[in-house]
Amino acid sequence: MVITIIGAGYVGLTQATIFANAGFKVYALEVDQARIDVIRSGRSFFYEANLDPLVENAIKSGMLIPTTSYEEALGETDVIFSCVGTPDNPDGSSNLTYVFDVVDKIISTIGDNSKILVQKSTVPVGTGEKIIKLLSDAGSNVSYVSNPEFLREGSALIDSLWFDRIVVGSTDKTASNAVIDLYKHVTEQRNDIAKHAGIDIDGRDNKDGEYITTSVNSAELIKVTANAFLATKITFANSIAKLADATHADINEVMHAVGADPRIGRSFLNAGRGFGGGCFPKDVSGLISSGIEYGVEIDILHAVTQENDSMPGYIVEKVIGLDNGSLVGKNVTVLGLSYKAGTSDVRRSPSVKIANLLIERAGAIVKVHDPVAMQDTQTLDVLTDGITVIDDLTEAVQNADAVFVATDWPEFTSLSASRYAQLMNGKLFVDCMNSFSPDSIRAAGLTYIGVGR
Ligand SMILES: NC(=O)c1ccc[n+]([C@@H]2O[C@H](COP(=O)([O-])OP(=O)(O)OC[C@H]3O[C@@H](n4cnc5c(N)ncnc54)[C@H](O)[C@@H]3O)[C@@H](O)[C@H]2O)c1
Repeated sequence: MVITIIGAGYVGLTQATIFANAGFKVYALEVDQARIDVIRSGRSFFYEANLDPLVENAIKSGMLIPTTSYEEALGETDVIFSCVGTPDNPDGSSNLTYVFDVVDKIISTIGDNSKILVQKSTVPVGTGEKIIKLLSDAGSNVSYVSNPEFLREGSALIDSLWFDRIVVGSTDKTASNAVIDLYKHVTEQRNDIAKHAGIDIDGRDNKDGEYITTSVNSAELIKVTANAFLATKITFANSIAKLADATHADINEVMHAVGADPRIGRSFLNAGRGFGGGCFPKDVSGLISSGIEYGVEIDILHAVTQENDSMPGYIVEKVIGLDNGSLVGKNVTVLGLSYKAGTSDVRRSPSVKIANLLIERAGAIVKVHDPVAMQDTQTLDVLTDGITVIDDLTEAVQNADAVFVATDWPEFTSLSASRYAQLMNGKLFVDCMNSFSPDSIRAAGLTYIGVGR
């Protein structure tokens, strides 16, 4: 079985690397020459723990072949995975330019050769039906399978090797079984792959995740519904956090007890500065747009977007509103720029939004630091002019009048409260992810400000 992964980004490179380490010959077909060059050198172009040893191994063994050529990749390929980006349009709907571009290129490259096309990109419900029609109208011999991706950046390898579920939506049972067999083969190899990556496999169970076969439309809807539900859970916690602030309750205490009910569950009830990244915001807006396309208003998701967008500003205003909370002309350090710990991804990061608001709305002098994401903020040019990027954590905290911990990197939570107090000039300690103990921060002589605490 020869595989081509089209779009060697976060999802595509991770999947290509896993398949190559499981013994498949894999072409990583990517239009961005700079990304191809980095992959060819045996590394990933983004930060993901434990991925580099696997990329290096796959390149050295010759099982992973980076290329920009459709002709080179598709000639001998049996299964094509499309993993290109599906960003949002200005109106919130999904931009499917790259998805349909891939379909056009496949049609013009493979002639009437028989292939399986697996859609891993997150696409709105109804997209697969359009692609199947295009393929059929072109007289191509391609079976279409919707196979949405559920990995999380920061734990991408573990999520892929020990998946909860593989969703496969198709009308072609032979094609969906062939795709399931690829994952079963990976599962058989996963301990070896994990060991090679340097992942500790002790205590991991040997059970397979669930294989769920559905229609194409259901598979598409499963993916965005899962993300929209998680985004809603976070946002629900943030809404209650605002009430906890107003009533001097502690949202962590509240959600700990609320989440103890197994019908609810504790995860994704952590209040904080809101969700971001390349998936949740656009998947929520994409689902709203799908609803509108089919005449269904999903009002709850409008509220989720609005409430989530308010969180960075809510935190900054909360600080400014305190007695002596003015930040005008003060030295403020923002720790964390990635949208979550474990990744260099700064797309739609609320941490970046907080840093920008501190300069634009609060009039502060802003320094920022992140263990891995500083290069990405520069590449994507997301920071407001005037913000100073500091490479070293200690140096970033030194002499700060206020510190905002905006991403819950362990590097920040493992620095002791007394060390923060020692390094800082002022006393304001803003815990935008509620990851510190208020008591220990206060015991060090700092003023603790959380979200709903
Ligand atoms: N990143 C995640 O955590 C995650 C998780 C689950 C699902 N998804 C979904 O997976 C898809 C990919 O996301 P990503 O984060 O990997 O995106 P990405 O932007 O990191 O990667 C997409 C890649 O596709 C390449 N590309 C675009 N058009 C191409 C073409 N015609 N031929 C070859 N390459 C092309 C781009 O250059 C880019 O490198 C999206 O639909 C996303 O919603 C992402």
